[in-house]
Amino acid sequence: MNSKLPQAGTTIFTVMSTLAREHNAVNVSQGFPDYEPTAELLELANKYLLGGYNQYAPMPGAPALRETISQLVTHCYGATPDPDKNITITAGATQALYTAIATLVHPGDEVIVLEPAYDCYVPAILVHGGVPVYSRLREPDFSVDWQDVKQKITKRTRAIIVNTPHNPTGAVFSAADLQTLAELVSDYGIYVISDEVYEHMVFDDRPHASVHRHAVLRDHAIVVSSFGKTVHATGWKIGYICAPEKLTTEIRKIHQFLVFAVNHPLQLALAEYLRVPEHYTHIHAFYQRKRDLLRRELADSRLKLLPCAGSYFQLVDYSAIAQERDTDLAVRLTKENKLATIPLSVFYHDQHDPHLLRICFAKQDATIKKAAEILRGL
Ligand SMILES: Cc1ncc(COP(=O)(O)O)c(C=O)c1O
Repeated sequence: MNSKLPQAGTTIFTVMSTLAREHNAVNVSQGFPDYEPTAELLELANKYLLGGYNQYAPMPGAPALRETISQLVTHCYGATPDPDKNITITAGATQALYTAIATLVHPGDEVIVLEPAYDCYVPAILVHGGVPVYSRLREPDFSVDWQDVKQKITKRTRAIIVNTPHNPTGAVFSAADLQTLAELVSDYGIYVISDEVYEHMVFDDRPHASVHRHAVLRDHAIVVSSFGKTVHATGWKIGYICAPEKLTTEIRKIHQFLVFAVNHPLQLALAEYLRVPEHYTHIHAFYQRKRDLLRRELADSRLKLLPCAGSYFQLVDYSAIAQERDTDLAVRLTKENKLATIPLSVFYHDQHDPHLLRICFAKQDATIKKAAEILRGL
């Protein structure tokens, strides 16, 4: 068998969650909540499951959900995407990103990937014959080195993938980052794939620097988001793509043969639930409180806390405690201390290891406190 992804194994998230179960460890590794969506949303799911909506949804997504997304984007960012021409419902952000990459990347095309990077971008580039070109985010704040990005643009560069708020570092873009990105796009004619799945989790009264806010970027970008994060239902795997009409036409050609259509009753439940802006406008406060709880609990530990401006991940620097590789430490912590985290090096193609672990704080307060107690004991 001539593998298309010879390097790919089981993702670190599956590895660490499996290890956590085997060792009965507190699991702050994989990014999913250990609490349920609201009762109201579950009741809506029930209503549509029992209400005769169990056959295929329309290929681009239920019109009601596309309408709700258009209203959400207007409410949050002031843009007015057309539900018919710009919005496509996908099976989570993973399928959205795969479809976006499949749409843009031809064999030999280069795609700029900012590292550390979420793990589904590069395999999709490789499967389509593309070439990932890496630019490292600057430590310790994990800001983009735009000079480096610029130097890496060639005639073959087709796209750049950006992610704000950022998994795994919790860094966020500023308006200046958007402006610089817009200048690159205009100067070099490249596309942007903007992964904004944590769009409602930006803290300390900062606005989310969404590509939706920037007219130049909107015309050259495929924006991806996911409801899994926003409504505490990562298992529903429903997300969306927002793109200019010409790109949407091409995106849907691929989408229709990849999944054709996405879970119909749950799309309708989300459409009705998210028509109420309060169901997404309070999410940042909900997670900011959890971030602050974790940081308070770790304040007198020997770990150094890196800034966390968004997402539901906190990075901790363990160099005062251990000098071993982060992957070794993460496994040892799970087995010996009963705490599962994610080592940062797995997000780099060259396993760069700045001695950082990622902690997910989308957890009940009791789980956060238990995790912090273990970490304080190190
Ligand atoms: C940055 C980022 N992009 C995409 C995804 C995938 O989202 P989904 O579960 O909707 O496929 C995740 C999930 O953790 C993520 O963190």
